[in-house]
Amino acid sequence: MVRRALTGLVLISLVGCAGSGSSSGGSHPSRSTTTTAPGPSDPYYSEAGAGVYDVGHYDIGLRYSPDQPAITATTTITATAKRNLAEFHLDFSGLTIDQITVDAAAAGLSRTRTDLTVRPRRAIASGATFVTKIRYHGVPRAIADPGDASDDPTRIGWTRTRDGRVYVVSEPIGARTWFPGNDHPADKATFDIRVDVPDGVSVASNGTFAPTPGSPGRYTWHWTMAQPMATYLATVVIAPMREEQTASAAGVPIRNFFPPRLYDESVTDFATTGAMIDYFSTIFGPYPFDAYGAVVLRDEIGYALETQTMSIFGSDMLGTDQDAEDTVAHELAHQWFGDSVSIRRWADIWLNEGFATYAQYLWDDHVDPAFDINLEMAKLRAGDERHLTRPHNPGVEGLFSAATYERGALTLHALRLTIGDAKFFELVKVWTAKYRYANATTADFIALTNEIAGQDLTDFFHRWLDTNQVPPLPKSLL
Ligand code: TRP
Ligand code: ZN
Repeated sequence: MVRRALTGLVLISLVGCAGSGSSSGGSHPSRSTTTTAPGPSDPYYSEAGAGVYDVGHYDIGLRYSPDQPAITATTTITATAKRNLAEFHLDFSGLTIDQITVDAAAAGLSRTRTDLTVRPRRAIASGATFVTKIRYHGVPRAIADPGDASDDPTRIGWTRTRDGRVYVVSEPIGARTWFPGNDHPADKATFDIRVDVPDGVSVASNGTFAPTPGSPGRYTWHWTMAQPMATYLATVVIAPMREEQTASAAGVPIRNFFPPRLYDESVTDFATTGAMIDYFSTIFGPYPFDAYGAVVLRDEIGYALETQTMSIFGSDMLGTDQDAEDTVAHELAHQWFGDSVSIRRWADIWLNEGFATYAQYLWDDHVDPAFDINLEMAKLRAGDERHLTRPHNPGVEGLFSAATYERGALTLHALRLTIGDAKFFELVKVWTAKYRYANATTADFIALTNEIAGQDLTDFFHRWLDTNQVPPLPKSLL
């Protein structure tokens, strides 16, 4: 559980040995490719995702009442075939399917625990856009994060509390617990999420929203995520909440959703959000989405997640201390690194977590004149090296570990010291612009760095990313 702790110092003191051994080798079972293989060839989750079509849009409409655990839902998926498809796969677990159509005609269906095989009445031609509509119901259940080897693994997906509140945190493969889809960040899509709930409960989700009255005593909260989003970043939080509307000084709208009884302290905890958005916009490039916000859970879940435009925080992640502020900065930075620029393979997760962790340090360095980033990075480097294993291709159990968070951040700092501030910050801005709303790999990052630095840093990256020995930090030029 505590491996979710986000701030460098907390993480390093809490990371257990359990995951490190198996993650250090970065080995993973190899997978044979057959013509029916559903995956986009991601060796970490070979059952997840499909490479033969490309989802453009998800429309998820669901009805929920706090006094009952079940939902009724319809998900409509608009996708384009990349080859002729006699059948195709969708990731989906647990719920009962009432009806499935492709282009309005009933389709054949078979399923396993995690996967649907859909057989349209007529094969779909390569290049054709097709619409799959799935009506379903049941009680969604969270699943254990398959990479979490601890005794108390993080649960991902749709989670309902005893008092009938709901929150969804899905990284990496929990989206399938509440809607069918192509559950891999390589296939991003826009979303409409419509949730019909009784009066008195709010729904926080991704993008921008308008609550509209539905049947008597109920509201439909319609959220629109107009920029592409990875499935693990789609969320709903359903609970009595009080909204705070504000904006950054530069004009980015902020709408936060807080539990009524934590409202005042939450307002204080997030008072710096606007200044953070504006500062990060100057160093990372413009904030990529139409709005930002935080939703605070009453639950002490021990982590936070960078759900697109609406980060989710367990109430225990907050407070007035430095760690809490660092967590706020971390999730915000993910909006650029992870959400707008997304990974193509899970093995490249250090591109998300290394940048988000380094952003905490950049924020502290910006606001605190006494903060010495070189000293703090040196302290991080001096931490327990057994945990600072290779950040690139860290193994499923190493995805959210000191290797990707802390050594990822150290790698970026070492790069900055090697190429200098001007080129480093140019690189960051070109990176977020070039791959905005898209996907990128570690190889893409190295290629862009070489181009901007005007030197071949392949060897530098190899030592920092692919070996279990932590290189020394270059001598400070800052
Ligand atoms: N990406 C999250 C962060 O660093 C951590 C995380 C990974 C997570 N998997 C999760 C949080 C599942 C909640 C649920 O900010
Ligand atoms: Zn993170």
